[in-house]
Amino acid sequence: MPDMENAPAPVTIAGVRDRRVAERQQAEPPVHRDVLFDVDGLTASYSGVPALRDVSLEIYKNHITAFIGPSGCGKSTFIRCFNRMNDLIPTALVEGTIRYHGLDLYGPEVDSVEVRKRIGMVFQKPNPFPKSIYDNVAFGPRVLGWKDGLDDRVEQALRQAALWDEVKNRLKASAYSLSGGQQQRLCIARCLAVQPDVLLMDEPASALDPISTTAIEDLMHGLKEAYTIVIVTHNMQQAARVADMTAFFSVEVDEESDRRTGILVEYDETPTIFTNPGDKRTEDYVTGRFG
Ligand SMILES: Nc1ncnc2c1ncn2[C@@H]1O[C@H](COP(=O)(O)OP(=O)(O)OP(=O)(O)O)[C@@H](O)[C@H]1O
Ligand SMILES: [Mg+2]
Repeated sequence: MPDMENAPAPVTIAGVRDRRVAERQQAEPPVHRDVLFDVDGLTASYSGVPALRDVSLEIYKNHITAFIGPSGCGKSTFIRCFNRMNDLIPTALVEGTIRYHGLDLYGPEVDSVEVRKRIGMVFQKPNPFPKSIYDNVAFGPRVLGWKDGLDDRVEQALRQAALWDEVKNRLKASAYSLSGGQQQRLCIARCLAVQPDVLLMDEPASALDPISTTAIEDLMHGLKEAYTIVIVTHNMQQAARVADMTAFFSVEVDEESDRRTGILVEYDETPTIFTNPGDKRTEDYVTGRFG
């Protein structure tokens, strides 16, 4: 009699398939991502004319997400939707939903000032206030009435923005005495001082020299441990260097009316967008054949 208990298990097709699936899963562990913003069917219009139509995507926590695409495709319009900056443009209308931590960002109970505290924004052109370096960074905490430990808070924000060593001996000097790259890092420090959750950056390095650009990119890498970052950039090498996820937008032209509307063409992990995109329009753009 063969010893049935110690006989090897019969090899079945299902068994082989299960083993292969298990091996593959070991080789590529599933990527775990927490959704921070869930955008669904978002259309943004100015004076009733859509600038960006029907965008749906998810922004993940502690990731850097880049928006790329030709001029006028709605990148700035879109990034402004994430902290309700479009509320400040009287002709702008945002339809569809953006959920932030599951909450409707445009819901009636949401205070847009609170939103902008949690979701900070850095613009293309550094825009420090005409105040001292210290007072720029202390501005937000003072508005919020955070008086205790202000010096420490200012120092911490400047350290996080990789500017502390360059300014620690001249905190009372005017912000305008800083170089463009330093001013941009000061604006980042000003955002960080109110301990936001998200940093939105619309072409933060486009006015900077390569050394300052590298400083900002290094900074982003360091910050994503603690923050979620969304960046608009025209510089595709920059998107490839810094972003985990990339969204490519383009412009659709209506032949009859000649109306131009921004659309989301493709959204994926950055290496996929740049080396193996699923859409011909993305491929043409990232290889420089268009735009
Ligand atoms: N405040 C505004 N009022 C009216 N139209 C606007 C306003 N801001 C943007 N638009 C229009 O919306 C469309 C998208 O503009 P947006 O600035 O979002 O594009 P973009 O992708 O950021 O372009 P760029 O790369 O040149 O910065 C454009 O047609 C633009 O003219
Ligand atoms: Mg723009």
